Amino acid sequence: MDSHTLLVFTFPAALILLLFIWTKAKTGGSATRRPPGPTGWPLVGNMFDLGDMPHQTMYKLKAKYGPLLWLQLGSVNTMVVQSPKVAAELFKNYDIPFADRKIPDALTAFHFNESALSMNTFGAYWRVLRRICSKEFSVNKRVNETEDIRRKCTDDMVRWIEEEAAASRANGGPGEVLDLLDTKSTEGKEFFDCMNKIMELAGTPNVADFFPFLKWFDPMKIKRTMVRDMTKTMKIVSKFVKERIEEKQAGTQRAKRDFLDVLLEYEGDGKDGPDKFTVHNVNVIIMDFTSEALPAAVEEVYGKPFAFDWELSGGVTPETMDMQERLGITLRKKVPEDPIEAKEEARPDAHVEEEARPDEQAEEEARLDAQAEEDEARPDG
Ligand SMILES: *[C@@H]1O[C@H](CO)[C@@H](O)[C@H](O)[C@H]1NC(C)=O
Ligand SMILES: *[C@@H]1O[C@H](CO)[C@@H](O)[C@H](O)[C@H]1NC(C)=O
Repeated sequence: MDSHTLLVFTFPAALILLLFIWTKAKTGGSATRRPPGPTGWPLVGNMFDLGDMPHQTMYKLKAKYGPLLWLQLGSVNTMVVQSPKVAAELFKNYDIPFADRKIPDALTAFHFNESALSMNTFGAYWRVLRRICSKEFSVNKRVNETEDIRRKCTDDMVRWIEEEAAASRANGGPGEVLDLLDTKSTEGKEFFDCMNKIMELAGTPNVADFFPFLKWFDPMKIKRTMVRDMTKTMKIVSKFVKERIEEKQAGTQRAKRDFLDVLLEYEGDGKDGPDKFTVHNVNVIIMDFTSEALPAAVEEVYGKPFAFDWELSGGVTPETMDMQERLGITLRKKVPEDPIEAKEEARPDAHVEEEARPDEQAEEEARLDAQAEEDEARPDG
């Protein structure tokens, strides 16, 4: 909706440029070898045919056009793959041409895309970070070392849910629990609030991504909002990175070297990738990892997805539950449920489970090492 009005608003000024880009897109490339797709409108292409839930629209288009779909979104040609078989074919046999992703304008805030692993271009920097990640971050030893911290986080979370639910019930409310990751810390709450907004903004269709010349103007204010939210998270992250740097300068010895130490102490081999990570690089990497690694880490501690004994309020049953979604970099429920009981489910001791699977651990580590070697052997895209 926003994009509609804004596009109309910017139309007169942009018309000439748009026409130019459209003509170029029409004449460039060989149209005959493209996958099928719906005919678009002049200039905007299929942009406004996708509706509020593009993934649902694309799924419907699959019935008509098959698993490979060609869409023109503004000046951007887009191929949509909706079949696991085709996806595997592309990523296995043509992995280098398809290795990079389109960076949403919003994620160029703070040059996020230049430092983060998740948004980087395939090349030396990415390879170095990927290698460190598979050797130092995703390995069981490292995950195991931080078990206490993560166990504390989840225990705090469970306690918080119980307290919130009880407090809300005491006030006559339904015992609503909206935010799971908050404990008592206001900074933690701010961090995850902003992180959630960042994920949502990053996935919000931005007219500037489809008409790149609109980037400087940022008509939907997405980049500006992103800068605002990222400023808050960056401040929080950079505070503890700074503390650690000062600790190192003061020569304080830590009992355990963690992932942050690994990043700060990294020195390149002078051939491939960066010599060192700048403080800005480290801030972004930590931010990037926190958003992605947390749910996986929680799962890792307990050896299975964390389960609660929910009860739904207001007579809602699993059959009548409102399953509407909200668009973001990941999809979330539009209307969060109101759980009225949140009891921790009896959980098996994670340690016992973890140590009962030494083969799996060894396999996983071997797999990661092999992957790291494979990445290194590859030429730049
Ligand atoms: C980050 O985004 C900017 C702006 O789109 C682009 O010029 C730059 O090449 C990107 N960098 C990487 C490493 O992808
Ligand atoms: C994991 O940590 C526990 C102590 O917290 C230790 O007893 C165990 O040996 C560790 N396992 C591995 C694979 O490092």
